[in-house]
Amino acid sequence: MKILIVGSGGREHAIAWAVAKSPKAEKIYCAPGNAGIAEFAECVPIGAMEFEKLADFAEEKGVDFAIIGMDDPLVGGIVDVFEARGIRTFGPRKNAAIIEGSKAFSKELMKKYNIPTAGYTTVYSAAEAREFLRTAKFPIVLKADGLALGKGVLICNTPEEAEAGVVEIMEDKKFGAAGDKMVIEEFMTGREVSVLSFCDGKTIKPMTSAQDHKRAGDGDTGLNTGGMGTFSPSPFYTAEADAFCREYIYQRTVDALAAEGRPFVGIIFFGLMLTADGPKVLEYNCRFGDPEAQVVIPRMKNDMLSVMEACVDGRLDEIDLQFEDNAAVCVVLASSGYPVKYAKGFPIRGLENFKGAEDKFVFHAGTKFDAEGRIVTNGGRVLGVTALGKTLVEARANAYKATELIEFDNKYMRHDIGKAIDEA
Ligand code: AMP
Ligand code: GLY
Repeated sequence: MKILIVGSGGREHAIAWAVAKSPKAEKIYCAPGNAGIAEFAECVPIGAMEFEKLADFAEEKGVDFAIIGMDDPLVGGIVDVFEARGIRTFGPRKNAAIIEGSKAFSKELMKKYNIPTAGYTTVYSAAEAREFLRTAKFPIVLKADGLALGKGVLICNTPEEAEAGVVEIMEDKKFGAAGDKMVIEEFMTGREVSVLSFCDGKTIKPMTSAQDHKRAGDGDTGLNTGGMGTFSPSPFYTAEADAFCREYIYQRTVDALAAEGRPFVGIIFFGLMLTADGPKVLEYNCRFGDPEAQVVIPRMKNDMLSVMEACVDGRLDEIDLQFEDNAAVCVVLASSGYPVKYAKGFPIRGLENFKGAEDKFVFHAGTKFDAEGRIVTNGGRVLGVTALGKTLVEARANAYKATELIEFDNKYMRHDIGKAIDEA
């Protein structure tokens, strides 16, 4: 099979790595890709939002199967464009990707189908927001409706903070049109866990659990980022929590979307809070998490391409999804200053130490080849270093040891990825 992967981050590198292991994969293209993905795929300089150009390329090369890694093109309807051109594509159509594209939509869906989540209201103007906030209980959570690079969520401890949030989201439109509507949500406490799952429109098969670290600094301080590191499985996601989620959250979500005429094919990412009242949905995403993919995919036993094909063909029920009985930790190596301002273009040394290794991997996020053919830093998140271990403690030690093998100017990482493991 000829495969086209759309995206350019660590998640897409992990997907390309898994797809390349499939005996069915003859040739892999990735648009736009990065310097690490180039080891497995021919990178094509077409942007992820250039749907028609991508479809032209897929047609010209006779691509048999397309995999969309990123949220923006999915929410923008790339799958509808590809399908209309006869390209078999793994990922939700626009009408199902809306579970990530609109928080107001997701909350309404959960309410209608009785899926556990935080109480909320949706407001359509700053005046309406202020009226609601006059009698609200604090802390409270404000969420811009649309995609905001993971930054459109504000946890407000006081009425003053909430007022500033209303101005930022709905008046100054810091997140653009994403702030035309806003969800105001009850604040929940508990452990967070991410569960990614394969879906074929009817059947859902959850993968092993993971936990992300979203803040930039040690001890969960500093600004929100795309994710600074992950571990898998989460020791807090017990068999009891899993059974609850399967019954009241996962299958209900898939059934709800099908009932609404929006069958979901692809990956549903459940962001969950394990509260004292049981697991509740924090958010849905319509694709693999980044860097959750970098700890979940290396633990997967199945041929990923076959599982994705089963999703597209509506026969996921035939798949026995299996994960290794081990653990993985991913530490993101970023450019110092991320997520605000950082320099790029520094050569990266030590990547060769990961060649051929089966217990440690380096997934590229923001890298490129410079004019001299060297691999250089090209983003805030540069690399994700993943290591396996028999236990989480072992995987974490292996991951931090592996981070020492890589050097580049302005290298920055958190030193407490997986610290929560010690509390389990
Ligand atoms: P989201 O993009 O909806 O996942 O929100 C980003 C982060 O904000 C989550 O990972 C949580 O840490 C936090 N968060 C979102 N909603 C809530 C909530 N209702 N209560 C507490 N924390 C929340
Ligand atoms: N790591 C969080 C996300 O991919 O949304």
